[in-house]
Amino acid sequence: MASLSLLLFLSLQSLSSAVSAASPENLRREEYRTGKIYDITHQIRQDLPSKATGDKGLGQFLWPSSRIKNGNSTNMSTMKLTVHSVTHLDAPGHYIDRYYFDSGFDVDTLDLDVLNGPALLVDVPKDKHTITAEVMESLDIPKGVTRVLFRTSNTHKQLMYKKEYDRSFVGFNGDGARWLVQNTDIKLLGIDYFSVGSDDDSKRAHLEFLESREIIPVEGLKLDDVPAGLYSVHCLPLRLFGAEGSPVRCILIE
Ligand SMILES: *[C@@H]1O[C@H](CO)[C@@H](O)[C@H](O)[C@H]1NC(C)=O
Ligand SMILES: *[C@@H]1O[C@H](CO)[C@@H](O)[C@H](O)[C@H]1NC(C)=O
Repeated sequence: MASLSLLLFLSLQSLSSAVSAASPENLRREEYRTGKIYDITHQIRQDLPSKATGDKGLGQFLWPSSRIKNGNSTNMSTMKLTVHSVTHLDAPGHYIDRYYFDSGFDVDTLDLDVLNGPALLVDVPKDKHTITAEVMESLDIPKGVTRVLFRTSNTHKQLMYKKEYDRSFVGFNGDGARWLVQNTDIKLLGIDYFSVGSDDDSKRAHLEFLESREIIPVEGLKLDDVPAGLYSVHCLPLRLFGAEGSPVRCILIE
């Protein structure tokens, strides 16, 4: 108890110094402890792309429920967005209705042990437009590696920063997905645009990954400016009961 209140005291201290040091600018960081912690989550912003809205961008997702300006005692906002917005993950029920969605395999059933632990950030060569079985094979990911984040030309083209949803993004085709399932131990699979499945083969790729209920796709990761290599990844979805996906906060710790 004593150490807990000390911790609380210390964090309040650092909070207040951060607030005063940051004033009047708001402090927003992508990197903490000088390169030891990377935030690989995109900000949820109106001008980020969204599959649901096509070329209009995500659009408004926060509405004022109460505003001090309007005489309320607090500022309070209500959020409305699909659970597959920006940086998010998929639960098995996203593509598999009868067995998984209806039986309640929602985001709350995902394994935190899979979502947290050693992870490899790998670069898919920039000239690869699809992650096929051949590409997967050439990446040579060792057995025993269970968490892999794939950085593709999606990152180099900065697709997540363009308002228009771009269907030419790099993702897995069905064969690449099957190869991963059959030949690697990957359970957490991260990618740098909205879908682990390429646009023309998205359903097959998702089915390959989700059918086993063991693989968790994390989509829309922000992988710019992070050196490739080994990290500890931490991805925490919201406990949205009954939801087949959730926005997620993911960080890498060196
Ligand atoms: C905020 O104030 C408005 C106007 O008085 C009121 O209609 C609304 O219910 C208040 N919101 C909340 C969350 O209390
Ligand atoms: C309350 O919301 C208003 C926008 O309606 C904003 O200008 C103000 O800074 C907020 N106040 C606090 C205390 O966050």
